[in-house]
Amino acid sequence: MKKANGCNPSNNDYEECYLFDPQILHDLEFENQKSASYKPEINLTNLGEGLTIRPLCISDYDKGYLSLLNQLTEVGDVSREQFEERFQLMKSQPNLYYTVVIEDTVMHRVVGTTTLVKEMHFIRQCGFRGRIEDVIVHSSYQGKQLGKLLVDALTLLSKRLGCYMVSLECDDRVVPFYSKFGYVKEEEHNYMLRRFIPK
Ligand SMILES: CC(C)(COP(=O)(O)OP(=O)(O)OC[C@H]1O[C@@H](n2cnc3c(N)ncnc32)[C@H](O)[C@@H]1OP(=O)(O)O)[C@@H](O)C(=O)NCCC(=O)NCCS
Repeated sequence: MKKANGCNPSNNDYEECYLFDPQILHDLEFENQKSASYKPEINLTNLGEGLTIRPLCISDYDKGYLSLLNQLTEVGDVSREQFEERFQLMKSQPNLYYTVVIEDTVMHRVVGTTTLVKEMHFIRQCGFRGRIEDVIVHSSYQGKQLGKLLVDALTLLSKRLGCYMVSLECDDRVVPFYSKFGYVKEEEHNYMLRRFIPK
């Protein structure tokens, strides 16, 4: 197994160092605790031929990670240097950022991703709140249960990390998708935002 740490540019495995310890995914007990049903059965160690799920690595910059995100929203022109800097910054905040990717190891492409952010609060007895962000499966890989696996795993992770709740924002059309994992639309809650840069 590759190292969770050792994200020093002078190390040989710098490109492959993980954003967080991959053991956290292995310890999830996904089989017993998953929310959705899978037909055919897939899980975190058996996603289908050539597919693997793991924490984000620096080398994912070259495996299409940002162009995948670009299928979801505007990413901009992010240089490798900027990517590495942001990766290192996220990694330096221990246990707050959990970006997972699904890689097609034959094509060396990132084909799915999502991120769990664990926020720290004073409310709820100095509690943690989880937010699931940027859920995307490459258009050529949709319908293979990979989106379900990503959201199921990170929802489970948020619970395992002790978050008092986990939330996400989505369009009406994907509400049925997220309902599979127990997410509910609370009618009394409005989602408000103010954009500083136009959409
Ligand atoms: C939404 C998305 C992540 C789902 O991933 P996926 O790998 O295609 O979906 P899966 O194969 O894992 O899930 C299949 C199940 O979810 C349902 N589903 C898939 N996409 C759906 C959608 N857009 N709306 C409602 N249900 C959906 C399917 O009907 C299927 O149900 P079943 O298991 O009961 O048969 C993926 O389609 C995607 O990346 N879409 C574009 C980006 C996007 O909308 N992201 C969400 C931003 S909030």
